[in-house]
Amino acid sequence: MSHVLKQTLAHAGGSTPGRGQQGMESMEGAAQAGQDMIVFDGVSKQYGGAPALHATDLTVRKGEFLSLLGPSGSGKSTILNIIAGSIAPSSGRILLDGRDVSTVPPRDRQLGMVFQNYALLPHLNVFDNVAFPLRVRGIGATEIRERVTQALHRVGLTGYEKRKPREMSGGQQQRVGIARCIVYSPSVILMDEPLGALDKKLRDQLQGEIKRLHRDLGTTLVYVTHDQEEALNLSDRVCLMNGGRIAQLGTPDELYFEPASEFVADFVGESNLFEATVVGDDTVRVGDHWTLGVRSTEGHRVGQRVKVLVRPEKIHAAPQGAAAGGSLAGNHCVGTLAQVSFVGGMTRFDLTLPDGRNMIAKGISDRAAERSPIGCRMQMQWSAADSVLLKTE
Ligand SMILES: Nc1ncnc2c1ncn2[C@@H]1O[C@H](COP(=O)(O)OP(=O)(O)O)[C@@H](O)[C@H]1O
Ligand SMILES: [Mg+2]
Repeated sequence: MSHVLKQTLAHAGGSTPGRGQQGMESMEGAAQAGQDMIVFDGVSKQYGGAPALHATDLTVRKGEFLSLLGPSGSGKSTILNIIAGSIAPSSGRILLDGRDVSTVPPRDRQLGMVFQNYALLPHLNVFDNVAFPLRVRGIGATEIRERVTQALHRVGLTGYEKRKPREMSGGQQQRVGIARCIVYSPSVILMDEPLGALDKKLRDQLQGEIKRLHRDLGTTLVYVTHDQEEALNLSDRVCLMNGGRIAQLGTPDELYFEPASEFVADFVGESNLFEATVVGDDTVRVGDHWTLGVRSTEGHRVGQRVKVLVRPEKIHAAPQGAAAGGSLAGNHCVGTLAQVSFVGGMTRFDLTLPDGRNMIAKGISDRAAERSPIGCRMQMQWSAADSVLLKTE
């Protein structure tokens, strides 16, 4: 039996009589209950001395959709499996709804898990796959029929009860995986790259369905992905991981517009980054002569080296001499057009500044600008408020 399948069955194995008793033991845990669904208190994991996860504090709020985002090997699955109980941490405590579950086995944690490879039982039909976690919990036939019917309805698979997994597409199999997870109303749903095996169009569609499902159920959901677009699109908050540490935890908006570091700025979306020196209040200098207004230099001293972030869609680019676009008072520069491309309803300009620096600007598609010839002179403008200093590392 595969490792993943074993895990699934362990989760599905469910409610033993001992469940709930452990929760009463910890008064401290009870005091921390309330808005926090999952708390990591100094949780770490080492493999033979190599840290997969450095000591980490992390709180997931009740009902929240939290994504664990990051490159391969950054510790996302390690966190998810420590929550699930299938990996024992090397140090620290895990609280679930205020109860210390550090030593509670997976089947007693009341969690639902959805995997990238679906982990369905191939010899069982759809109905029996979804019914499986209820059967091992000893639930009666009438209630099983009701709950399976409702779960299949929720994932749009009414009428597919008799199909075998192999007779279904990848997207449909993953819907079965999700139905099997929600059928026993887990208090937390954990998903590890659930759309990783699907093509882009199906991924987009299932993203929408998962988002709606989360809204309807109101369950806490922790979602692992390496796809930044997916994380930004789905989540209330994103926890970006890098090398076994949290690089930043915040709303999609915060990560995008107020990244804590160059790593975050680079990983989440595209960015223009300028090395600069603080020269005054809300003013920096790039190179020898170029002075830029920035949102704020608070916390920085004059003379300090900093990095300035400007997101491409905040820069308005137009052929030089064309009518100025609005009043983006503040920063401007000129450059030559190196490339124009049309991506998803936006026009992207790759520009070269006189000192050789590259700049990216993006805007709602504009026919006139798109026809600009490569090599033409362009004028760029953006507001000081959209120029953000990164923390120096
Ligand atoms: N069973 C294991 N034995 C040794 N190293 C492991 C094991 N599982 C994971 N790791 C290592 O821990 C780090 C984090 O892994 P993981 O959490 O799976 O990353 P992610 O899910 O972000 O891709 C990686 O460097 C990985 O190689
Ligand atoms: Mg992983």
